[in-house]
Amino acid sequence: MKILVSGKGGSGKSTFSVLLAKALKNAGHRVLLIDADESNFCLHRLLGAPAPKNLMGEMGGRKGVREKLPRSKAAPSEDRLFGEEVLLENLPDGSLTEVDGIQLLVMGKIEQYGEGCACLIGSLSRTLLAKLREETYPFVIIDAEAGIEHFGRRIDATCDLILGVVDPTHESFTMAGRMARMASSAGVEIRFILNKVDQRVERIMTEKIDPDKVIAHIPDNDSIFRASLEGAPVTVRLKPVDDVVTFLETNPPRTRLKMM
Ligand SMILES: Nc1ncnc2c1ncn2[C@@H]1O[C@H](COP(=O)(O)OP(=O)(O)OP(=O)(O)O)[C@@H](O)[C@H]1O
Ligand SMILES: [Mg+2]
Repeated sequence: MKILVSGKGGSGKSTFSVLLAKALKNAGHRVLLIDADESNFCLHRLLGAPAPKNLMGEMGGRKGVREKLPRSKAAPSEDRLFGEEVLLENLPDGSLTEVDGIQLLVMGKIEQYGEGCACLIGSLSRTLLAKLREETYPFVIIDAEAGIEHFGRRIDATCDLILGVVDPTHESFTMAGRMARMASSAGVEIRFILNKVDQRVERIMTEKIDPDKVIAHIPDNDSIFRASLEGAPVTVRLKPVDDVVTFLETNPPRTRLKMM
């Protein structure tokens, strides 16, 4: 199951992605965590890993990837990056890091002034996700960049489920509506995670987001706040996240309408 974690900047996507990866692993599942955010460098730290290499760099950088990508969005099978399917063991040495039984794959980062836009990294992500074999990697969690550009890049259509992380801001509530519409256009199911919830905001958040689509209320948690302040890994275990694992185990997404 490929799960794309989406939401407004700072809503808690990376934190939730790590919490979910750890909870799935604790429940006995094999997990691949993909850092598909081209700008932020924090996912490995939240997981407790040293700074990893990234896939684009290991595949020859921009030049190497550009030469092998398909010419059109409509023909991902034409790429020469991965062949028919992606097997993690065939990825370049150094592009995967394992932390406490969780595999981490970083797609690519903007590192130099003027190096070009992030579209190439998006194309690499879309191509890889479309060819990643689900039988071998039962849970793939993709920590997306802030906002909804991944919809524009059609990355969502390669996934089985979108988890929208909503924090207590008006911007997040309106973005949740747009995400739901785009998920519907992509033919992918979407559910929402209400994050940073406390007594002041719970009622308002519950009113703003379709209750049938909300699968967790994650509290505003001091341990998460402190980890972020100190640059430490997130180690807290939260029952609402374990409940998301149960939801995923018992509600496999219906067959997708692939709109690649
Ligand atoms: N449940 C929570 N309780 C307290 N703080 C939280 C919680 N979830 C996230 N945070 C804090 O909110 C901030 C943003 O979190 P995070 O980096 O996970 O968001 P993001 O959506 O991935 O951000 P970006 O859009 O920049 O990638 C961090 O300081 C993090 O510690
Ligand atoms: Mg993030």
